[in-house]
Amino acid sequence: MYNFNFCCPTRVIFGKGSIAELPKYIDKNKKVLMIYGGGSIKRNGVYDQVKKALEGYNLYEFGGIEPNPKYETCMKAVELIKREGIEFLLAVGGGSTLDGTKFIAAASKYEGEDAYNDIVVNGIEIKEALPLADVITLPATGSEMNSGAVISRLSTDEKLPFNSEKVFPQFSIIDPEVTYSLPLRQTLNGIVDTFVHVMEQYCTYDVNTPLQDDWAIGIMRTLIKEAPKVLANPTDYDTRANIFWCATCGLNNWISQGVAQDWATHMIGHELTAFYGIDHGQSLAIVEPRLLKNQKVTKSKKLAKLARELFGFNESVDLKAADLAIDAIEKFYNSIGVKTRLADYEIDAQEAAERVRDRFKARNTHLGEKGAVDADATYEILRNC
Ligand code: NZQ
Ligand code: ZN
Repeated sequence: MYNFNFCCPTRVIFGKGSIAELPKYIDKNKKVLMIYGGGSIKRNGVYDQVKKALEGYNLYEFGGIEPNPKYETCMKAVELIKREGIEFLLAVGGGSTLDGTKFIAAASKYEGEDAYNDIVVNGIEIKEALPLADVITLPATGSEMNSGAVISRLSTDEKLPFNSEKVFPQFSIIDPEVTYSLPLRQTLNGIVDTFVHVMEQYCTYDVNTPLQDDWAIGIMRTLIKEAPKVLANPTDYDTRANIFWCATCGLNNWISQGVAQDWATHMIGHELTAFYGIDHGQSLAIVEPRLLKNQKVTKSKKLAKLARELFGFNESVDLKAADLAIDAIEKFYNSIGVKTRLADYEIDAQEAAERVRDRFKARNTHLGEKGAVDADATYEILRNC
């Protein structure tokens, strides 16, 4: 096991009716900005619940954060914050709203010329950020319990992550009941995103971490069991609760301590979203099976363990078992109705492969736990998607 240094300062308030607890955790003397997305919270009653809980607060609002949050939109919130002297940010929505809020928190305290270039592209150390918290409404990103965010820039077709301890939410409210209103497509995106997060942390090379491996496999096993249940009964509380906790634990960095991590599927998927606008979860479902095939030899031990312990195959030859695991993952996605080919989304594989290869060549990109996924490997992977 590798050395590690772990801290997650986020309080999690989980369960039915938990939005009503907001005032316990936000100082009434602070100017609070509630940040939300395209309006789902107004249709499903979450907005009303938050307003009621924060009655008597000096509450400002900023709506319109889009899926795959845009730098250009976030900077409008920064202007409002500076103008009004906002002191606390409350994200109410999915991972995009929360990620946007994390960026806004950092950009509000940043004095440089181009916050996107400095914070996101060049990853400068963030010295200060506004305090933030969230009411998370979509189980997928794990953003509610981590310090990462992914921000897109319209003017350059970029979609890149940044990370800073300063943007951990102070607390996250997770009420699984708010997910009853999710469109099917977003429920599925969240299941795939969570599955792939776990794979990015589990499926590398073995450094003797049986506990982390078992936790990871436990999350994947739970997703495979709960996914058909949520499709059959979208308002079953226990199913929604189990899926949400899988999503949070899938990327709160608990399973990644002491292990090698991959993240190549995500970085290639981000390019597909940046160029073609497809959903994050969809991009992952397309890339992951082909990337795993491409990297099968170095990942064979972990893939074989997955074949045997998660999918129940008896195959004793690791490389053969690895193939079985990869096929079983893709079958799982397809079984819940997630399509796994670029053509299914009307994207030309050859064109996508060339565009992403050229961009990775220009950036000298090397992805994956061994840096083996370079521009040429990415080209091969995407051509086969
Ligand atoms: O914008 P509104 O109107 O709120 O609607 C949203 C949006 O259209 C809707 N929605 C959210 N909660 C709902 C709901 N509709 C009905 N009922 C609810 N309870 O769902 C749509 C998608 O929302 P979005 O926030 O974009 O989805 P998600 O949570 O999947 O976030 C995706 C973004 O997170 C990034 C992705 O790259 C992408 O930009 N990621 C962030 C990570 C992190 N911070 O750690 C890690 C992930 O790998 C991921 O990359
Ligand atoms: Zn993701």
